Amino acid sequence: MAIVLISASQDIAQWRESFAALLPGVELRHWPDIGDADEIDMAIAWKAPEGALKSLPKLRLICSLGQGTDHLFRFDDLPPGVPITRLVDDSMRRQMTAYVIAAVTRRLCRMADYGPYQAEGEWHPLAAYDPAETTVGVLGLGALGRDVADKLVSLGFDVRGWSRNPAFIPGVECFTGKRSLAEMLGPCDMVCCLLPLTTETRGILDGIAFAAMKPGVYLINSARGGHVVEADLLAALKSGHLDGATLDVFEEEPLAADSPLWDHPKVTVTPHISAVTLVHSCAEQIAENYRRMKAGHPLLHVVDPARQY
Ligand code: NAP
Ligand code: GLV
Repeated sequence: MAIVLISASQDIAQWRESFAALLPGVELRHWPDIGDADEIDMAIAWKAPEGALKSLPKLRLICSLGQGTDHLFRFDDLPPGVPITRLVDDSMRRQMTAYVIAAVTRRLCRMADYGPYQAEGEWHPLAAYDPAETTVGVLGLGALGRDVADKLVSLGFDVRGWSRNPAFIPGVECFTGKRSLAEMLGPCDMVCCLLPLTTETRGILDGIAFAAMKPGVYLINSARGGHVVEADLLAALKSGHLDGATLDVFEEEPLAADSPLWDHPKVTVTPHISAVTLVHSCAEQIAENYRRMKAGHPLLHVVDPARQY
């Protein structure tokens, strides 16, 4: 049997080299050069084209090539009954936490604001801040959000978290469910989104959510562009209610050349790099799931299609 990698953005040579060591004798094919479709029992997928997974008649396992799985639910075309797993990776967790902490501290240390003073050779201290008096809200307390919240606590921030089921993280004030969202957001100076994109969370950062936040709030979105209603974001920036944003993800990627976000003075744009899938870190857990699938053992990091995450 063989595995197929369905992704336009991955270096197949690197994956082949890793898999040759981890799964000797198992062939790794690269979509669309799949050879005999009947030989493929596992797909590793990132933004698979519509119908691709359903076209593999002997498929027994689908592995998301990211921690997010929304890309698999785009078309309602998944082969019924085939289990889905996702990555839960230490390197991605470390990358994401570093990204969010960088966005938080860059703003609070006024790094960008000092640019004009430096250009003029002017020694000009701006207002200081105290992490203990800065409230950061983290939407989503899963593999990534939990670590972000935890590290913010260790830096002395006042941290609030929000999840679907009740969570307990030492030092974090945790809120649960849609009805507590406005209450959670209210006192936040900064809000970071680390939710999965699902039917329930699409558009969750809309005008209503922004209005629930206090004036001058700052947004960090490193989850999915679909969480943010872009028109409402731009309106909140324009009114000054939202004082800025760091955005790593967008409804349309790459971000359209004419998007007003590119040159918005209050927005930092990064090209979906806050936590990147690194072959050396992720290949082993995918190989392990292949072995488990073959042996009929319980899989790692199984996705619930009903919840979409
Ligand atoms: P995860 O472990 O599945 O955690 C998701 C969290 O969101 C959980 O705490 C979950 O609540 C909460 N949640 C889900 N639906 C909710 C709802 N309707 N209301 C309230 N809370 C809800 O996910 P993860 O591994 O931390 O990853 C989070 C997301 O980050 C991914 O889905 C992906 O979109 C994004 N991501 C982005 C990048 C990047 O480079 N930009 C990289 C990796 C991941 P429960 O705990 O109660 O289930
Ligand atoms: C990246 O966005 C991921 O979901 O891993």
